[in-house]
Amino acid sequence: MPNQVKGKHDFEDIYTSDTCVKYYHVAMKEMCVIERCEVAAKYSEKFLLPLFRKWAKDPSSGEEKALQFMDLLSCYGNDTLIYTNSYYQADFDKTWSSESTCETLVKPRQFPVKTLGVDRSENALKFGKKVGVFDDIAVIDFNNLTCSNEQFLEERCKNANILIMNSFVYIDDGIVEQIINWFALGTEPGMIIFGFIYPYDGVERMNQWKKMLLEKFDFFSSVPAVNRVLDEEERSKHGKEYGVWEKSFYEFWHLTRKV
Ligand SMILES: C[S@@+](CC[C@H](N)C(=O)[O-])C[C@H]1O[C@@H](n2cnc3c(N)ncnc32)[C@H](O)[C@@H]1O
Repeated sequence: MPNQVKGKHDFEDIYTSDTCVKYYHVAMKEMCVIERCEVAAKYSEKFLLPLFRKWAKDPSSGEEKALQFMDLLSCYGNDTLIYTNSYYQADFDKTWSSESTCETLVKPRQFPVKTLGVDRSENALKFGKKVGVFDDIAVIDFNNLTCSNEQFLEERCKNANILIMNSFVYIDDGIVEQIINWFALGTEPGMIIFGFIYPYDGVERMNQWKKMLLEKFDFFSSVPAVNRVLDEEERSKHGKEYGVWEKSFYEFWHLTRKV
């Protein structure tokens, strides 16, 4: 378990519930994660979706083929819905806010795509699959990877067209680097979308990953956002050290494969 996790607000019970409803009320609404979801949704619909639609169409035949999309540390799949179904805050409000509505998606996928969710929370993944966020799921603990986990992830990263990942605070050193390397080996058009959280992903770690990303991929864009409000313990810890007293901050980085 990396040092960064010490003193971080503990969300474990909401990551492991049977449905996304607690996650929606506590993390997305009370702690304001929904704001950065809205930023991502608006940015994605305008700047990323046209590219994904283009990639999904064979230029010579005009035929469509499904892109491969993977969401690492996906939880229930809120980030997947943003990119694949153009889910805005209002869409999450309509569906994820109650047990009676959370199993119905209010918008279809916006381009041909097959989705994979990977997380250590089996409950979150099962929910995502049941309601149609994920086509495929894999219960994996990134800090205890078996050989077969590594083979699976390597294969899927190479074949993925879109890889999204955040929550690096939870991940031991060395794992993110492997994922970056595996994704870079792919030969199809691809975009890696990383969400860096300042300061608690680790300021020096984030800079190392950014340098590595810039070496291996073409920079597409970055977008700033607020991540969420901090609890009392986080405020004093991050405030004293980094001057971050109320909120943590989020940077979306979008990079494309050199193909
Ligand atoms: C904040 S949620 C991420 C959900 C979504 N990507 C977002 O940012 O809103 C963090 C997720 O990381 C997962 N997680 C934490 N440690 C993990 C580990 N070692 N291996 C796999 N998943 C882990 C948790 O189960 C949880 O679902």
